[in-house]
Amino acid sequence: MTKKVPGTAREAPLIEAHEVEKTYRMGAVSLPVLRGVSLRCEPGAFLAVTGPSGSGKSTLLHLLAGLDTPTTGQIRWEGQPIARWSDAERSRWRHRMIGIVFQFYHLVPELSALENVMLAGLVNGRPDRKAVRAQALECLEAVRLGARLAHRPSQLSGGEQQRVAIARALVNRPAVLLCDEPTGNLDSATGGAVMELLWQVQERQRVGLILATHDVSLAKRATRQIVLRDGRIVGETSS
Ligand SMILES: Nc1ncnc2c1ncn2[C@@H]1O[C@H](COP(=O)(O)OP(=O)(O)O)[C@@H](O)[C@H]1O
Ligand SMILES: [Mg+2]
Repeated sequence: MTKKVPGTAREAPLIEAHEVEKTYRMGAVSLPVLRGVSLRCEPGAFLAVTGPSGSGKSTLLHLLAGLDTPTTGQIRWEGQPIARWSDAERSRWRHRMIGIVFQFYHLVPELSALENVMLAGLVNGRPDRKAVRAQALECLEAVRLGARLAHRPSQLSGGEQQRVAIARALVNRPAVLLCDEPTGNLDSATGGAVMELLWQVQERQRVGLILATHDVSLAKRATRQIVLRDGRIVGETSS
């Protein structure tokens, strides 16, 4: 069986950062955090962004998600600069196309695992509740939490909570998943299991994955690794 290698340069990128600079201004002080970063993620590609704490990884993921805007340069989706869209268009796009997983799970404590995942499917437009529920169940199965549907976050382990957060990020069938230190709050065995699930889901669903991590061992399976230092790309390898 021949398998298509995802993320090859021949394919058009889904999401791109083009010469992105970000400078935070705090009164009279300006702090350059990203200094000309360009990257691309094709459908199904797995891109790892590594670099020490403070190198600009989280800032870059925020910009890619359209949660903040670059000082100069562009974020592009299928070639279109997302800055040209209205706020409403950008939030519709994010909801539809982008899944986000953070280091801290940010689950709603009063809601069950299933409700937390469903909530993400119900926030925009006029969704079909039954279809959202079915999709949420499928995503929770995919992260092997089919037996924890009624559990609240406080009744789940850290690894389980992060798996709920991954299911939540997947519920709208995004094309790109942005993960910011998703195992940063977990012990290494649990973190390894969470990453294993992420990889499986990513391969099966052919979602583009951009993983920010200071842990270089997690980046080894990536199609492409980008190393950030002080807001610049100082290394890039492809496997
Ligand atoms: N909202 C902000 N305002 C001012 N400075 C910020 C802000 N967010 C991040 N920074 C600074 O930008 C630098 C990069 O931060 P970050 O992108 O979080 O790096 P990383 O995720 O690689 O640890 C840090 O020095 C941080 O203090
Ligand atoms: Mg960070």
